[in-house]
Amino acid sequence: MNLRIAVQTKGRLFEETMTMLSESSIKVESSKRTLLVPAKNFPVEILYLRDDDIPQAVASGIADVGIVGENEFEERQENAEIIKRLDFSKCRLSLAIPEVKMPDYIAQGLKWFNGKKIATSYPGILKRFLDKNQLTADIHVITGSVEIAPGIGLADCIFDIVSSGSTLVSNNLKEVEIVMQSEAVLIGNKGLTAEKKAILDEILFRFDSYKNAEGKKYIVLNIPTNKIKEASEILPGMKAPTVTPLETEGWSSLASVLEEKHFWEIIGKLKQLGAESILVMPIEKMIL
Ligand code: PRP
Ligand code: ZN
Repeated sequence: MNLRIAVQTKGRLFEETMTMLSESSIKVESSKRTLLVPAKNFPVEILYLRDDDIPQAVASGIADVGIVGENEFEERQENAEIIKRLDFSKCRLSLAIPEVKMPDYIAQGLKWFNGKKIATSYPGILKRFLDKNQLTADIHVITGSVEIAPGIGLADCIFDIVSSGSTLVSNNLKEVEIVMQSEAVLIGNKGLTAEKKAILDEILFRFDSYKNAEGKKYIVLNIPTNKIKEASEILPGMKAPTVTPLETEGWSSLASVLEEKHFWEIIGKLKQLGAESILVMPIEKMIL
């Protein structure tokens, strides 16, 4: 019995999803032509779908689980559950208006949207937001290139995905209201069998090991033995750094795990303590 995972054929989640699967040693060909591809070495099969179709496929049991943008899941309101937030492909869904309308907007606030025509691919989420704020606007659904709608006179403003914000800038639009934050999520059918749950648990364990290692480096260095205590405080590691005495009197070798974002700051402090021969290595997986 295979666990069937629905995955987006293309689009913003595709690359990272495939990387996460292969880093979890689930080897699949990312075939564009075959819809259903079994993994070579694991009881899993990948069903390639359009992102819009994934929530329904999972809710109906055509797929057991799926990897999809939270925005897409929220839009569809299908009867499936979020099993895990995957911490990649982060974006937000926002209302944006032409820059030239900003003085009006600043004067009126959200009421500015009353009676306006809003172009979007997410009518459900937008409708719920408007209702909640007692606003009435005309929702105009378009499936792609939403951001050009105001410029060509198709709408007054837009409600769309914003990531870096550069699409808005190049279309002279200004983000005025963030309606929801989104990221990739793993969603699941509500009636998974125990057997399928066990396969899923193993996959989640592997995803975690990959995610835990992300942004971390393994560091080994030589340091005067009398500086180990100070160095340990700078280098918390997982529990405590590993210390090995060196042949050279008064020197030790120290190994630990380092967050990449604090990397240069920590290296600087270690050098001040007299650290030498600093080696930094990638970490492939981390099982806590
Ligand atoms: C989304 C959205 C914008 C763009 C925003 O499109 O529709 O066009 O990303 O990203 P930015 O803030 O980094 O410029 P996406 O690439 O997901 O494809 P889509 O047009 O199929 O929605
Ligand atoms: Zn889509």
